[in-house]
Amino acid sequence: MQLLELKEKEKVKVDWSESLILEGDVRNVVKQLPDNFYSSCITSPPYWGLRDYGYEGQIGAETLLEDFIQDLVEVFRAIRDKVRDDGTLWVNLGDSYTSGNRTWREKDKKNPAREMTYRPPTPAGLKPKDLIGVPWKVAFALQADGWYLRSDIIWYKPNCQPESVKDRPTQSHEYFFMFSKSEKYYYDHESIKEPAEAKGKLRNRRSVWQVNTEPFPEAHFATFPPKLIKPIVQASSPKDGYILDPFFGAGTVGVVCKSLNRNYHGIELNKDYINIAAKRIKKCPSPDPTLF
Ligand SMILES: C[S@@+](CC[C@H](N)C(=O)[O-])C[C@H]1O[C@@H](n2cnc3c(N)ncnc32)[C@H](O)[C@@H]1O
Repeated sequence: MQLLELKEKEKVKVDWSESLILEGDVRNVVKQLPDNFYSSCITSPPYWGLRDYGYEGQIGAETLLEDFIQDLVEVFRAIRDKVRDDGTLWVNLGDSYTSGNRTWREKDKKNPAREMTYRPPTPAGLKPKDLIGVPWKVAFALQADGWYLRSDIIWYKPNCQPESVKDRPTQSHEYFFMFSKSEKYYYDHESIKEPAEAKGKLRNRRSVWQVNTEPFPEAHFATFPPKLIKPIVQASSPKDGYILDPFFGAGTVGVVCKSLNRNYHGIELNKDYINIAAKRIKKCPSPDPTLF
């Protein structure tokens, strides 16, 4: 695995056949990626108004929800050219509630990125306490932009964060939306079958996936549990295929790819997270029987 810094407009000769971590803003780096190349893109973009990553113009800090959605549509439009015609896109997004026009969030000692110097205003047409439905709004916008929306996988988290609310159920799921670039695409359903009720039989994978979250204290954001990513990598790419994660974070997609003999290209803005990801991937044997 190689680390590369890709500056805007700078043309670097890159050996794309290797697994790589590319340092930079996805909006610049994506232009330099090879066309029609990736079996799939698997990622979790920053959530809207939830984390302060401390960058000017960061995705997720748009005042208006429509601007956040538009930024993501543009990122994934550019990525569509890089995904093979038979490729897929898998996007994990969490939802949030309107802030009731509070414009900040208290310091969180355990997680400084949760301290917000801004809080987006309540989107037009919504009321205080409304669940915004961000994941679905993004999914519909990507669908309208040409992606085929193929599945809304519910990631059920039995060990979700407790909430002090008494007037609604505790939020215990997130979505993983599956899109394809074309009507026909690569999807190895055999590789991810699940046990059927009849003993010894297997059936097509269902759309609710129960996976506990796993703490990763070095990162100030939620990382994917490897168990959640394993079936996506298996179903969406052949052995030796290429997978892109444009919001690489602590590199879980890279770890899973390495363990399952897939190649990966990860894009990440933050040098500290790149170092965490690189160390983590280096330590991971291929295959890693302890990972899942
Ligand atoms: C939710 S985290 C991803 C976590 C990752 N799925 C994991 O398992 O470690 C989102 C990441 O996107 C990065 N990021 C935010 N804006 C970016 C941008 N414009 N270009 C590249 N990376 C960005 C953040 O620094 C953060 O590490």
